[in-house]
This record gives sequence, C-alpha cells and structure tokens, in this order.
Amino acid sequence: MLQVKELRKRFGDREAVSDISFTVNKGECFGLLGPNGAGKSTTISMISGLLSSDHGDVEIDGLSVKKNLMAVKKKMGVVPQEIALYPTLSAKENLYFWGRMYGLRGAMLKKRVDEVLEIVGLTDRAKERIDQYSGGMKRRINIGAALLHQPAYLIMDEPTVGIDPQSRNHILETVKELNKQGMTVIYTSHYMEEVEFLCERIAIMDHGKMIALGRKEELYQYLVGGTSIRVVTAGIHENWLAKLKEMANVQNIVVQEDTVILSTSNKQELIHQVIATAMDEKIEIQTLDIQELNLEAVFLHLTGRSLRD
Ligand SMILES: Nc1ncnc2c1ncn2[C@@H]1O[C@H](COP(=O)(O)OP(=O)(O)O)[C@@H](O)[C@H]1O
Ligand SMILES: [Mg+2]
Repeated sequence: MLQVKELRKRFGDREAVSDISFTVNKGECFGLLGPNGAGKSTTISMISGLLSSDHGDVEIDGLSVKKNLMAVKKKMGVVPQEIALYPTLSAKENLYFWGRMYGLRGAMLKKRVDEVLEIVGLTDRAKERIDQYSGGMKRRINIGAALLHQPAYLIMDEPTVGIDPQSRNHILETVKELNKQGMTVIYTSHYMEEVEFLCERIAIMDHGKMIALGRKEELYQYLVGGTSIRVVTAGIHENWLAKLKEMANVQNIVVQEDTVILSTSNKQELIHQVIATAMDEKIEIQTLDIQELNLEAVFLHLTGRSLRD
C-alpha cells in the first residue's frame, strides 16, 4: 500500500502542491489527472523522493520516503516526464547502464534487460542508437528502465505526451497488462481518456489542490444530471441566458464567453428547448454537442474550465 499524507511544496510564493493526500492499494492502477501546472509532477517527485516536501510524508508498505529512501527506492520504478537516456548509446546499452545503477549484475542483468525489451516491444530494435529512435520508442525504453529492478510500484509521469499514436497505444496496453499481472501503478496524465481507460480510482488535481477523489462512478455523480450539453454561439444575450436558467431541466449552467454548458438528466427535451429559445431570441448556434458522463465533464463541472485549457 502506498499512502500519500498531506504533501505540501512551495516554490517561492507559489504553493505548487497543497495538502495532497491519497492511498493507493496493492494491485491498483491509480490515476492522477489534472491540467498542465496542476502540481502532478511536483507530487510525483515527492513520492519518489526526488524532491523533498515542505510538509507531510509518503509511506510505501509502511516505510517512510523521508526516513527510508533507499529501501523505498527498491520498491518503486519511476518513469519521469523528462526522458533520461544517453543518445549515443544503443537502447540495450542504456538499459544495461540503468540496470547497473539499480545494482543488477551478470546473468541477472542480461536476463532482465532481455525481459524488459520484450515487455516494451523493442527487442528487434535494441541495438540501434537512441538518437535514431522516435520519441515514442524512447519513452518505451524509459519505461523499460524503470522496470529493470522488478519494482512492486510503477509511477509514471505523463508517459504519452508528444508521441505518435502507435507508441501511445502500445504504452497504454503495456500498462494495462503490467497492472493485470499484479503491478501497482500510479498513472499521471492530463488526458482524461487515458486515465478513464486505465484507472478505477482517480484523483483530480487543479492549482495544487485535490478537487476530487474516488472511483470513476463516484466522480460521475458530481454531474447530477448525467449529461452535459455544450452550446457554442455567435454571441449570447442576457435574455436567452435568463430563459435557460429558468428551465426545469437544467441542473447546472456554466458560461464561458460565447459558450454555454448545461447539465441535465433529460437531454432530448433540453436540446429542443435550447434550440426553440435560441430561435426566439435570435441567437445563432454554431455547434451543439452532447457529452455523456466522462471525466472531462466532471472537471468542467468542478472548475468551469475544460481540462485542456
Ligand atoms: N522547480 C520549480 N521551481 C519553481 N516553480 C516550479 C518548479 N517546478 C514546478 N513549479 C511550478 O509549480 C506548479 C506545478 O508544476 P508541476 O508539478 O510541474 O505541474 P504539472 O506536472 O501538473 O504540469 C507550476 O505552476 C510550476 O510552474
Ligand atoms: Mg508534469
């Protein structure tokens, strides 16, 4: 079990992480979701002992990161957001280097490097230099490096940012498979689809704070209505907004410039009403889209902003 207890970190006068606490159970794939700048990497760096916290601690199987860093490091494989590989060495040589750093030697080192190359699907490309690799292949080797010492916990910081879709799918499938085989995972991302695909329990962070934590179904309950309807217009009038606010079907309403987001449990009726009132008020609708329950809609509901802003 991994317990994050009231972590706090300040950079100058900015509190990057404010009292973050959560527990990750053995065998779980836990998602840490939040937009850029939310404090995800700072949190991950404190969990892995790379950065010291101003307050709070992390316990892994009862061992404190503050007091037992060396013992804790053996249990954790960390995939940092920045790629840490030697460009002029081959993929295999890089893995040998990292394996030695983890204390592996001889036959055991060779065995683990071969196994890890299989896991990340790059056995046939292992002898090529890293600077010949695509961004996605580099990422996969970076993940491989974190797996060499057979950690019980895998901690990944945005492992799919800026890579090709094929490598991205490969990484997602690899994480799913590792988790199925018993690996406990903390998966950090600002892509809600990835967290939704991989994780059962999720923490949502924004501006250094935890804004929601729970199983997916629990998070979906923030959207009382169940459906969110987004209407982009050429310009909103107050009259129309007043009519929307009065509608019995509207559970929640968020206005962002020329866009209105409504949540409802009766989408068909609300769509008809939205269009009818827009016609009465001479509002030009540019797009109208319907978002069923997903984490993007939960984030929007909690913050009034879209996850990718
Ligand atoms: N070393 C640092 N020095 C100063 N500010 C930092 C440092 N690292 C992160 N920050 C700031 O802390 C906040 C959280 O950053 P980060 O943890 O990287 O967020 P995320 O990984 O969710 O994008 C941001 O406002 C960022 O600019
Ligand atoms: Mg980050």
